[in-house]
Amino acid sequence: MTDSHDVKEPGLAPGGQLRIHWAEQAMPVLRSIRERFTKEQPLGGMQIAACLHVTTETAVLMLTLVAGGARVTLCASNPLSTQDDVAADLVAEHGLSVFAIKGEDKETYYRHIDAVLSRRPKLTMDDGADLVSTLHAPGRQRLLQDVIGGTEETTTGVIRLRSMAQEGVLGYPIVAVNDADTKHLFDNRYGTGQSTVDGILRATNLLLAGKPFVVVGYGMCGRGLAARARGMGAQVIVTETDPLRALEAVMEGYRVLPLARAAEEGEVFVTVTGNLHVIRAEHFHRMKDGAVIANSGHFNVEVDLEALEAMSQAKRTIRPFVEEYTLRDGRRLYVLGEGRLINLVSAEGHPAAVMDMSFANQALSVEYLVKHARTLGRKVYPVPVEIDREIARLKLASMGVEVDELTAEQRGYLSSWTFGT
Ligand code: NAI
Repeated sequence: MTDSHDVKEPGLAPGGQLRIHWAEQAMPVLRSIRERFTKEQPLGGMQIAACLHVTTETAVLMLTLVAGGARVTLCASNPLSTQDDVAADLVAEHGLSVFAIKGEDKETYYRHIDAVLSRRPKLTMDDGADLVSTLHAPGRQRLLQDVIGGTEETTTGVIRLRSMAQEGVLGYPIVAVNDADTKHLFDNRYGTGQSTVDGILRATNLLLAGKPFVVVGYGMCGRGLAARARGMGAQVIVTETDPLRALEAVMEGYRVLPLARAAEEGEVFVTVTGNLHVIRAEHFHRMKDGAVIANSGHFNVEVDLEALEAMSQAKRTIRPFVEEYTLRDGRRLYVLGEGRLINLVSAEGHPAAVMDMSFANQALSVEYLVKHARTLGRKVYPVPVEIDREIARLKLASMGVEVDELTAEQRGYLSSWTFGT
């Protein structure tokens, strides 16, 4: 590790460069923002600390921020999601400060977060709120004073930051990128749906057709995953705790069961709840021999792996990212990617075309914070609706899709209460 970077192997850069170019081609909205940023320099001199999955799409976002005049340092938001060739290229070709190595241990993960924070950022860009919570730890008040605002990428991070704001400990305004319609309706649903199936298939090469496939949590990610698994012929079962979400799943045509019963029927289980110990000992006890368990929620806490270890007599890695646990009664359960988000561990994360919108929200929210942070409080704010709409408009335009406009008569009708039968 040097002061400026810590990546696995700088020699991987050429491969990373090609893959970044490939992603860039599928990110027309971010490219158009980059063109404008290059001319207008809205982020001039801003030091940005970013803690994101280090993927090709993130590289395109980082280069967009740099084009806008920012100085950027980047670390990983998950120890297993870094693409080492991308990290290498950002350092070697673009001179960025990147601190991220796929498979880094917990200590290195936090050392990398500290390295990014030591640059005294004015803005933070987080995915899961590990950077922001580290910045708020005791003894870091000095660093906190410099920060004018930040953005948060994912559901779990927004929940953590709202709880900090509620307790009155959040030190600066945060824009909840996750909650923009052009983020969660597309990234969480179609991005997580497709890439989670991709991750499971790359790790296992299972046949999904005809397979009982349990989706645990029918939120934005869960509904995308259920739809994609059904599309491949799996027999999808949904489990939920929220009656409204459960009802939606029922009406969408899925079987909905309590997890204790689904545990007996499922052959693949995927958690996407953002919650703790969702699959635990009582469920492992009921599972069939050969059941496969994966997680695509933000943290590796959804599957209680400690309980599984305690129930097991043996454990071995049978394929990359597939651990076989042999229980005392001889049944074998297979855990993918150590229970970390499987779409980033064994596949490449979301496709660039969907990250185009998520990261357009990031870039425009940072620009918004540079202009308006001083007028905001220490709270979590939504992405301004004009930004959200503009991103949808740009994305449609890039796809060559045209839509109708309201006539003046229709606008009047929709904004009036005087019309009746
Ligand atoms: P969401 O809040 O829309 O959905 C979560 C659902 O899980 C809710 O319907 C909730 O009722 C349900 N749930 C909570 N506890 C449960 C339990 N014990 N059993 C069954 N259901 C339970 O959240 P969203 O946007 O779907 O995100 C889910 C997780 O995925 C979060 O941790 C988020 O940060 C993460 N995420 C991961 C991505 C990836 O690339 N793998 C991308 C986007 C989000």
